[in-house]
Parts: sequence; structure tokens; C-alpha cells
Amino acid sequence: MDLLKGEVALVTGSGRGLGHAVISRLAEWGADVAVHDISREAPAEFGEAKDLDEVAQRLTRFGGKAVGVTGDISNPEAVAKLVADAQAALGPVSILVNVAGGDIAAKGGKPNPNDSLFVPWEDVQAIFQRNLFGTMLLCRAVVPGMIERKRGAVVNIGSGDAHTGHVNSGAYAVAKCAILHYTRCLATQVREHSVRVNCVSPGATVTARFKATRSVDPKFLDESKPLLRFGKPEEVADAIAFLCSPLSAHVSGQVLRVDGGLQVWPG
Ligand SMILES: NC(=O)c1ccc[n+]([C@@H]2O[C@H](COP(=O)([O-])OP(=O)(O)OC[C@H]3O[C@@H](n4cnc5c(N)ncnc54)[C@H](O)[C@@H]3O)[C@@H](O)[C@H]2O)c1
Repeated sequence: MDLLKGEVALVTGSGRGLGHAVISRLAEWGADVAVHDISREAPAEFGEAKDLDEVAQRLTRFGGKAVGVTGDISNPEAVAKLVADAQAALGPVSILVNVAGGDIAAKGGKPNPNDSLFVPWEDVQAIFQRNLFGTMLLCRAVVPGMIERKRGAVVNIGSGDAHTGHVNSGAYAVAKCAILHYTRCLATQVREHSVRVNCVSPGATVTARFKATRSVDPKFLDESKPLLRFGKPEEVADAIAFLCSPLSAHVSGQVLRVDGGLQVWPG
């Protein structure tokens, strides 16, 4: 499969988890890839790889180039540096996938409490920084170059949580919901420049962090019911790869849920 031959893809948070499944698929489809994480060691946190260099090395098995870049996506200087590092190694980024994020407290773990009224304010700020603001900063750093070159594809990551009210994870749901609408606004702005911007909203997806941070009911892992079980990272990655590729050449400003059909309402 060489649908993405000649493309340069930067995927944030791709040292592990869902981001890693995404960057693997993009590399498999022929792209040169910049694998990014907050630190060189982040891929080891849940035992997925020794470090970012090992991940980048593994990705070269598909025949393209791979480079590891680091930086906190909530810090504008770090974002400028990680984008510059990626482009110095691989050339202009033509595919940007904003995967880095999560419902994570300022000091790690889940906010406690994690509701909409009493969640610690520092955790609200950390969640917005890590999800919405990080996504916006990456777009601000990369999309102007796409506009100049009159081509490019961006995919942001929402969440099933963004589409419905919640008692828990309220701040996370709001930040992800804002990513959905930022996607629509940015897509509208850059449409005339032939740059596409879409969003994928995964349902519960069994990544290493997902398994490590909650108890998983085995009934949602039952392979005999493919739409009633939790998602696999590769299934979300396939939808994202589609939105990065010429297969979706006339698709922009859309939010695609990958949740086995759990949520079937508009918006
Ligand atoms: N797994 C799920 O069930 C699920 C469902 C819906 C949405 N999501 C979203 O998918 C994305 C990936 O989730 P995952 O389950 O693979 O978790 P994960 O923790 O394995 O992956 C998140 C990645 O983002 C990186 N990251 C986090 N904060 C960062 C920062 N400030 N700067 C740079 N990198 C940072 C982490 O180091 C990690 O590599 C997240 O945005 C998450 O909100 C996950």
C-alpha cells in the first residue's frame, strides 16, 4: 500500500497507544513519519517500548524514514521546536494528526473529584492545555505551511465523551467537544487553500493506558460481537489513515465516530 508515498506525517503522542497505531498505519501506507511524545521515555510508561528511538527505528521497517521528536504540546516554544525538528529531518509536514491528550490531572492520574463543579481548577487547566490548546498550537505551527503549499490533511482526535453529558470527566468532555468545533472552524477557514481538516471521535479503545487505568469488563472484549466490544487502536487508526489519504479527497470539516455504532445521533 503506497497511498501516502511522498507524504510527511507528524503524529503527536505517537510513542505509544492510539497514536502509535496511527503512525504505524501511516508508515505502512508509505509516509515518512515523525513520531512524537512528551519525552524520550514516554513509550515505556505502560511497557509499550523502551523509548522513542526504539519506536522510530521499528517504523523504518515499512521502507520510509522515521524520526523521533519530543516536546510538551501545551508549550508554544516546545511546539515550534518539535515541528522544526520534524521538518529539518523529513521536509514540510503534509499530514498532521493530533492524538496527544487524555483525561489526565495536572500531577498525573485522573482528577479527583472529576465532575463538572468540584474538579480541581489546576486539573481543568491541565486538561484544556493537554487537549484543546495543544491541538490548536500544533495547527497554528503546521497549517500555515500547508496553506502556502496549497495541500495538507489534518486529523484531530475527539472522544465519544465529547458528544454527550457526563457526571464524570466533565472538563475532558468539554475540551474534546471544543476540538470537534475547532475542527469545523479551521476546516472552513482553510477550505479555499485545499487543506482538509477532520476529526475522529473514538469510543472506548483498549490501549495500554486504558487497561492500566481502569478495570475492563471482559464482556467488552468479546471478539464474537465486533460492534458491541471496545475498539482496538488499529480500528481507530484505519479511520484516521483514510482521512489522511486521497481516499477522502472531498471530505473536510467532519467528525467521524469510531465506536461500533454506539452513538447514532447527530452532533
Ligand atoms: N483510549 C481510549 O479509550 C480513548 C477514547 C477516546 C479518545 N481517546 C483519546 O485518544 C488519545 C490517545 O489516548 P491513548 O488511550 O492512546 O492514551 P496514551 O496515554 O497511551 O497516549 C497519549 C499520548 O499523548 C502523550 N501526551 C500527553 N500529554 C502530552 C503533552 N502535554 N505533550 C506531549 N505529549 C503528550 C502521552 O505521552 C502519550 O504518548 C488521547 O487524546 C485520548 O484522549 C482515547
